[in-house]
Amino acid sequence: MYILLMGPPGAGKGTQAVQLVEKLGIPHISTGDMFRAAVKEGTELGKQAKACMDAGQLVPDAVTIGIVKERLTKADCKKGFILDGFPRTLDQANALDSTLKDLGISLTRVVNITVPAEDLISRITGRRICKNCGATYHVTFNPPAADSKCDKCSGELYQRADDSEATVANRLSVYAKQTEPLIEYYRTQGLYSEIDGRQEIGKVFTDIMNSLRGSAV
Ligand code: AP5
Ligand code: MG
Ligand code: ZN
Repeated sequence: MYILLMGPPGAGKGTQAVQLVEKLGIPHISTGDMFRAAVKEGTELGKQAKACMDAGQLVPDAVTIGIVKERLTKADCKKGFILDGFPRTLDQANALDSTLKDLGISLTRVVNITVPAEDLISRITGRRICKNCGATYHVTFNPPAADSKCDKCSGELYQRADDSEATVANRLSVYAKQTEPLIEYYRTQGLYSEIDGRQEIGKVFTDIMNSLRGSAV
């Protein structure tokens, strides 16, 4: 299955992707995670991405398209993938179409997780991530059993640099301007499913799986 997970910042794309990986055994490709890995490594890409991410702006299309193209040609993508956070602009969507065409792949489904803006701010500012394994928690909605420690590996939990209230406002307005138009783009292709992301995490997952069942594999 070739799945595209869409949704505003904090909608639950990453949370759902982890469960989809477990269920479907296909790779999770998150451009945000790829940029954060580059920041950690201190590469040129990381330096460029950090400036954009900290400002709540998008990394330039040419850079983003380049890294996704390269990733999609890897052998583990042949059987499927879960794309999270890409495409985010119409140019990225067009580039994805042409890359997939070259690879002989068609998207199975575009799943958009919807959550109203007022809920997104508390989701993002309350998010905590494990430094060691990357597991995602929320101080209220999905708290770890022990304060500040990961349930899975006891790693230390941290807050993302772009999860401050000030940056979140920018991220939400960039989403509305640049990414929301993609909904129409995929709706007209008949690939689009909308999932109510305000429900509890398990119910969102069930709804996503049901939307995939109706699609050709
Ligand atoms: P990216 O990392 O993709 O961030 P984002 O799109 O802003 O999305 P988030 O990761 O913040 O949210 P999510 O939907 O994954 O939610 P999560 O599951 O964590 O991108 C970061 C930056 O990188 C961008 O701003 C940009 O600069 C750059 N970038 C990335 N892709 C790019 C591209 N294609 N082009 C250009 N630039 C790009 O959940 C959030 C919180 O809510 C968690 O605490 C979680 O526990 C909780 N939660 C999840 N589900 C529920 C639920 N159902 N109920 C209650 N709480 C829940
Ligand atoms: Mg994410
Ligand atoms: Zn961990």
